[in-house]
Amino acid sequence: MNILVLGGGGREHALAWAIAQNPKCDRLIVAPGNAGIAALAECVALDILDGAAVVEFCAAQSIDFVVIGPEAPLAAGVADALAAAGIPAFGPSAAAARLEASKTFTKEVCDACGAPTAAWARFTDAAAAEHYIRAQGAPIVVKADGLAAGKGVVVAMSVDEAVAAVREMFAGSLGAAGASVVIEEFMAGEEASFFILCDGTTVLPIGTAQDHKRVGDGDTGPNTGGMGAYSPAPVLTPAIQAQVIDEIVKPTVAEMARRGTPYRGVLYAGLMIENGRARLVEYNVRFGDPECQVLMMRLGAQALDLLLACAEGRLDQMQVLWADDHALTVVMAAKGYPGSYLKGSVIGGLDTLPEDSRHMVFHAGTAVKNGAVVATGGRVLNVTARGATLAEARDEAYRMVAGIDWPDGFCRRDIGWRAL
Ligand code: AMP
Ligand code: GLY
Repeated sequence: MNILVLGGGGREHALAWAIAQNPKCDRLIVAPGNAGIAALAECVALDILDGAAVVEFCAAQSIDFVVIGPEAPLAAGVADALAAAGIPAFGPSAAAARLEASKTFTKEVCDACGAPTAAWARFTDAAAAEHYIRAQGAPIVVKADGLAAGKGVVVAMSVDEAVAAVREMFAGSLGAAGASVVIEEFMAGEEASFFILCDGTTVLPIGTAQDHKRVGDGDTGPNTGGMGAYSPAPVLTPAIQAQVIDEIVKPTVAEMARRGTPYRGVLYAGLMIENGRARLVEYNVRFGDPECQVLMMRLGAQALDLLLACAEGRLDQMQVLWADDHALTVVMAAKGYPGSYLKGSVIGGLDTLPEDSRHMVFHAGTAVKNGAVVATGGRVLNVTARGATLAEARDEAYRMVAGIDWPDGFCRRDIGWRAL
């Protein structure tokens, strides 16, 4: 098969790495890719938000299957354009991608199907929102309705902080994404992520993970896109996974089908677990980044078979073959991230590290310049290892980190602490 992966981050490097191991994969193209992906696939420049351009490229290159990595092309309808052209693709339609693109939509779906989540209200003007916040008290959570690149959520510990967040959003700080605001009950507990393939009817769990959103050790400092992850997440016990499937995932999938917008793709359920029960924090309509890196390391080549079966509506025939082990990834970021950071610093030592089914450095923001790998983004590398235990996976990953010579980069030193 000729396979096209859309995206160019650590998530897409991990997807490409797993797909390339499957004998069904004859030719692998990634758009736009990055320096790490270039070692195992052809990287091409293509406007991945332009459905017509993606379809044209697929026709010209005889692409048999497209895997859409990030949310932006999904929300832009690239999966719809591919479906209309008869090209098999992994990823939901734009209508189904509203589960990530609109907080209000997700809350309405949860209410319609009875999925447990935080109590909420939606506002389109600041005065009414402020009145509600003062009546509810703090802590309370303020969310811009639309996609805001991870900047749309303020967990406010005081009423003043919540009111300030609402005023900023209505003043246009997040553009159109903040024109409508959801205000939610604060949920206490431990967060974890659950990844479930859905083909419109059948749901197939493919793994659990825990992310580390704060930039600093001990979960301190500002939020980031994720500084590290591990899989499985022990907090998501088999009993809680069953509760999530029965009370949240299956009802959501049934509600989406009932609305005429069946969900096909990976459903990433962000969950809050307290007293042995999970409630939904949010859905994403794609794999998490860096959670995908640990999931792909554990799934390996079978990932392609699972994604294909998902796209073709055959999940009822599939089974996930689990290795009984653990994977952990440490994100290395450019100094200054998530604030401003320098681009172009040289990264050494990568060619001294092992690259096999238990060790991989997945690249995010990298490029090759004058023969050297240089950093081009905030999150730059995902140093990933497997082990029989989580502690072993962590030790292996940090051993690899020690072999990387990048004075302008940094990482958290405590990935995995909650589970260890
Ligand atoms: P979201 O973009 O909806 O995932 O929110 C980003 C982060 O904000 C989540 O991962 C949680 O850590 C936190 N958060 C969101 N909603 C709530 C809530 N209702 N209660 C507590 N924390 C929340
Ligand atoms: N790591 C969080 C996300 O992908 O949204």
